[in-house]
Amino acid sequence: MKVSFADLTAQHREIKKDIDRVIKNIQKRSDFILGEDLQCFEKEFAAFCGSSYAVGVSSGTAALFLALKCLDIGPGDEVIVPDFTFIATALAVSYTGAKPVFVDIDEKTYNIDVSKIEGAITKNTKAIIPVHLYGQPADMPEILKIAKRNNLRVIEDACQAHGAVIKMPGGKWQRAGAMGDMGAFSFYPSKNLGALGDGGIITTSNEGLFKKLLMLRDYGRTSKYEHALIGYNSRLDTLQAGFLRAKLKLLDKWNNARKEAAFFYNKLLGGLKGLITPFASEGVSHVYHVYAIRVKRRDEVCARLKEKEIGVLIHYPIPLHLQPAYNGLGYKRGDFPVSERVSGEIVSLPMYPHIKEKQINYVADALKGAL
Ligand SMILES: Cc1ncc(COP(=O)(O)O)c(C=O)c1O
Repeated sequence: MKVSFADLTAQHREIKKDIDRVIKNIQKRSDFILGEDLQCFEKEFAAFCGSSYAVGVSSGTAALFLALKCLDIGPGDEVIVPDFTFIATALAVSYTGAKPVFVDIDEKTYNIDVSKIEGAITKNTKAIIPVHLYGQPADMPEILKIAKRNNLRVIEDACQAHGAVIKMPGGKWQRAGAMGDMGAFSFYPSKNLGALGDGGIITTSNEGLFKKLLMLRDYGRTSKYEHALIGYNSRLDTLQAGFLRAKLKLLDKWNNARKEAAFFYNKLLGGLKGLITPFASEGVSHVYHVYAIRVKRRDEVCARLKEKEIGVLIHYPIPLHLQPAYNGLGYKRGDFPVSERVSGEIVSLPMYPHIKEKQINYVADALKGAL
């Protein structure tokens, strides 16, 4: 049996009619840029997240970058970022001219270790970017408290967490992207909500930030040839927004299917010697963008799984402080022990909404054999 890491074909089969209809309608209207489907999708996505506004942009990286620009973050500023994430979280900070400052992660959730944030704050710190890694919300109640105490802004990197939910103090459940000043999402095709190409969106409930984001993503425009800001060409295509509208209707169903797949993996793999299954914190709904386990001798285990035609990936093999691109920041091996340990042991198993129980059984058997 072959089990791919992710298989989007079944997903696309489910929305085939919508894809055809969207292409036909947009061709007819020719509103390819900032068109009707984009306006509708922005409202629908904001409502889905529980935010007042959303602004479609060209990628998740662009969403993070424009959110930072919107807060006037730039040279001389510092932004706190977890050390264990996709590099785009830090790259967006670097693009502004500000400095990313890395913080180690929690050994259980792999999200930023909130007990270490305040030790990294200096007089230059302007913001924190918590990442809801793998689909599990970071400890937002604590992060928001730290931000308030230190007068910092919070941009949620929700690129892996469309639809994830966390219980906030007072008992209210909130979606990823609705808790910070802004939330940044990616619509890279294999995300829980993915476009048929690149795309992203920024959520916010602050009207001032919303208005500035609308300008920043569209050449800083106030009217066709009037420009108030040094803006960018960073818009989400109407066509992608049309596809995303169709997929958004199925997102809760697909997230539930991911959760069921994760529970089934947990049942088969839980308690196995030498293997750590994902930890889901109390009071969160993890949406399993990635189902990541930890094993020693990871490379040998992966080789055995690949022999059996099982698609596995490593998210992520090199922590940010050890990336050659960030040599100039002066970090060294040993600076973030948890992140270093996890990056040496982590393995992502096949995970997508339409994965079948027999495929999960096959992966689990192969893993047991490899161990
Ligand atoms: C945590 C995280 N941040 C940022 C990004 C960047 O998103 P994009 O690939 O759409 O630019 C990604 C996506 O891969 C991601 O996983």
